[in-house]
Amino acid sequence: MGLHRLTSITLGVPDVVASTAFFRDFGLSDQTSSTQGSAHLATRDGGGQVELVGAPTRRLIRLGVGAQHGDDLARIADRAASSPYAEIIDSTPDLLAVREAATGLRVEVTVAPPYAAPPVEHTFNRPGADPERIDVPAASVLAAEPVQPSNLTHVVYGTPDQPATLAFFTDVIGFEISDQVPGIIAFTRCGPVHHNLAIQAAAVAYPHHIAFEVDDIDDVVRGGQAMVDTDPDRHMWGVGRHAIGSNWFWYLREPGGTFVEYTADIDRISEQDKYRPKDWQGHEFLYSFGPPPPLEFLEPADMADLIAQS
Ligand SMILES: [Fe+2]
Repeated sequence: MGLHRLTSITLGVPDVVASTAFFRDFGLSDQTSSTQGSAHLATRDGGGQVELVGAPTRRLIRLGVGAQHGDDLARIADRAASSPYAEIIDSTPDLLAVREAATGLRVEVTVAPPYAAPPVEHTFNRPGADPERIDVPAASVLAAEPVQPSNLTHVVYGTPDQPATLAFFTDVIGFEISDQVPGIIAFTRCGPVHHNLAIQAAAVAYPHHIAFEVDDIDDVVRGGQAMVDTDPDRHMWGVGRHAIGSNWFWYLREPGGTFVEYTADIDRISEQDKYRPKDWQGHEFLYSFGPPPPLEFLEPADMADLIAQS
């Protein structure tokens, strides 16, 4: 696979100032390139990964995907040229921009370096094993600095034509399916992380949620707690652990309505033929343990507005 990660997104939001304040509190940092009416925010290890622009309702405008080599872009361009699901809208030696036909989403593939994440020291004391931490408390107990998300790790995207959008990402861009509930949602990846893009059937194209990877479960809890301590209405769902992908989660609600997730310890997949996905049934795929999902997580409160504005 020549793809290896997500690079960035452009998210349309009704109130750029309010959404920018949310993402700053979430742990993203300002980029100097912010301009009037838009904002650019950075993760700790991925750089400027989030662009916010004004829009009547929340929407996913652009998704960036990182490839290892320029040859990867040429292969995608060849597939796009003969696909009913894709339209090439820009092509240079360093960038290939393709429009996904079912929703109009702009997908930009660029040659990008891997994340340069620093090693994380996380010690556990467990029964039957030599102690890993002696005479000191856990680092997270004394941590005073705010949580800084490492990287943009996945997006869950609703589409009114789920088979077509899925075919675009698998047959044209080159994503692989990790797990799916056929016709409802497919968890796909563009690198070793279990899912970078989940494509779900919906009445209208919209971003259900975007997720940022943090170092460990401690940071999921510390980050989520700090967000709801500042504004309890931000809480959406968590803390819990998903079944598909195994990742820890705590979901918040940003002012535009998109859910934003702290996540950690998601599955990695090395080779497709060594990976054995379980046959998921019904709603069991949603989570393994934690509180039950709120109805709004499954049926966003602004869905009627999103349909009316589409
Ligand atoms: Fe997620």
